[in-house]
Amino acid sequence: MPKSGSSVQRAREARPAGKAVDRTGGTVKVRFVINRKPAELTLDPRTTLLDALREHLRLSGTKKGCDHGQCGACTVLVDGRRVNACLSLAVQHAGDDITTIEGLGTPEQLHPLQAAFLTHDGFQCGYCTPGQICSAVGMLSEVRAGMPSHVTEDVGADHIALTDEEMRERMSGNLCRCSAYPNIIAAIRSVAEGGTR
Ligand code: FES
Ligand code: FES
Repeated sequence: MPKSGSSVQRAREARPAGKAVDRTGGTVKVRFVINRKPAELTLDPRTTLLDALREHLRLSGTKKGCDHGQCGACTVLVDGRRVNACLSLAVQHAGDDITTIEGLGTPEQLHPLQAAFLTHDGFQCGYCTPGQICSAVGMLSEVRAGMPSHVTEDVGADHIALTDEEMRERMSGNLCRCSAYPNIIAAIRSVAEGGTR
């Protein structure tokens, strides 16, 4: 999976030195990089990545919808790949570089997908939106890397055409109860065709 070289490099350099997991009694000390900054948490080893982000680091942008891997509201990027944070334990991500919606852009300088969701009205209540945007970032990287989907006609093609069918299939893990799907697709398309990240 290709990653935006410089930002990933910076995140790697920010990784804490030494072991990423220390076991003490019934807890584990886990170190990772969250939004380009080193973080260290002492956790019950059963803590999910989602609860570590929301309850321990107070990064409430990542949403808890189903807590069962069914809705995509909890999608974050782990080393550039999209992951359902409710389905993995925080300790599994020791040493990883994790990006949440808070790390994608700033209020002054939105990530292009954040700006596109605003421009195209890609949300109503907004609950699914952080997961949709993180998922779209990962999805566009997958397409650029030539990874086929279930609906890709030519899996050997050098260039995968990002048709609406491709986008819907690739974003099918992210549900929107407000059914903002047409505008979500329009927002993602505008970024894909604009050649931005
Ligand atoms: Fe993780 Fe629904 S909260 S997939
Ligand atoms: Fe409400 Fe998607 S905008 S769930």
